[in-house]
Amino acid sequence: MAEAAEALSTPESVLSINNIEVVYDEVIQVLRGVSIEVPQGQIVTLLGPNGAGKSTTLKAISGLLRTENGEVTRGDIHFQGKRIDKQAPEQVVRDGLFQVMEGRRIIEDMTVIENLKLGAYTRTDGEIQQDIDMVFSYFPRLQERTGLAGYLSGGEQQMLAIGRALMARPKMICLDEPSMGLSPLLVKEVFGIIDKINKEQGITMLLVEQNANYALKAADYGYIMESGKIVLDGTKQQLLANEDVKEFYLGGGNEERKSFKNLKSYKRRKRWL
Ligand SMILES: Nc1ncnc2c1ncn2[C@@H]1O[C@H](COP(=O)(O)OP(=O)(O)O)[C@@H](O)[C@H]1O
Ligand SMILES: [Mg+2]
Repeated sequence: MAEAAEALSTPESVLSINNIEVVYDEVIQVLRGVSIEVPQGQIVTLLGPNGAGKSTTLKAISGLLRTENGEVTRGDIHFQGKRIDKQAPEQVVRDGLFQVMEGRRIIEDMTVIENLKLGAYTRTDGEIQQDIDMVFSYFPRLQERTGLAGYLSGGEQQMLAIGRALMARPKMICLDEPSMGLSPLLVKEVFGIIDKINKEQGITMLLVEQNANYALKAADYGYIMESGKIVLDGTKQQLLANEDVKEFYLGGGNEERKSFKNLKSYKRRKRWL
């Protein structure tokens, strides 16, 4: 058993999720055998409709599941070859994996700089100021905001949340729906910066999104999740060319059409089911 798990965490995968099941409150099963590989230095995106289990997957990785009475009841998660699915959230951060939670979660009655310093709480070196400058180089507009973070716009709060993650000097960042609530222009800007950080800092990313258009453009590889299962995965090119992905995720048109909850009304079944 241990050997099988070992074999799955291949050296090029920095994060390896192997067939996990997650149950909330001891009875509600949300993930049903999810496996995801995130190779070193890449951006992998996890796409899927609301309620599919994307945030649950991220919480299983970061150890935050337990704060919601959730548990990984089967399978395992390895980060850099080390098993982390039974680990406390602080230890996961110390190991180099930082999660930017849905809804940004910055501290509203602290300044930008105070929020950034919070991100560095696991560090003991004296290079905090240097890293604050590095964050400001990616997000220049944050430097101009000297008031409390609660007064920042939604886009700026998202930038601050990402900047705070950078302050931990992580090897990997998991981002939960960074595009949520942002205008298309800001989404483009934020995704551009995510891409730049990945390339320049070599930080591996797992990007959870409902917004497949932007996420797939930034990503190297993608997984599509529905009702707690991975239903399709492939390279960016494969997914962008896939007819079902085009129809159900990338197709312009109205929101209703993009929602998988309404798919029962479709004549044609999805090819992956
Ligand atoms: N703390 C919780 N307790 C019980 N059920 C939960 C909890 N969090 C999420 N769920 C349920 O798990 C399912 C997946 O939720 P979630 O992981 O948030 O999906 P997504 O992020 O893809 O929208 C949903 O049906 C949701 O109601
Ligand atoms: Mg979610």
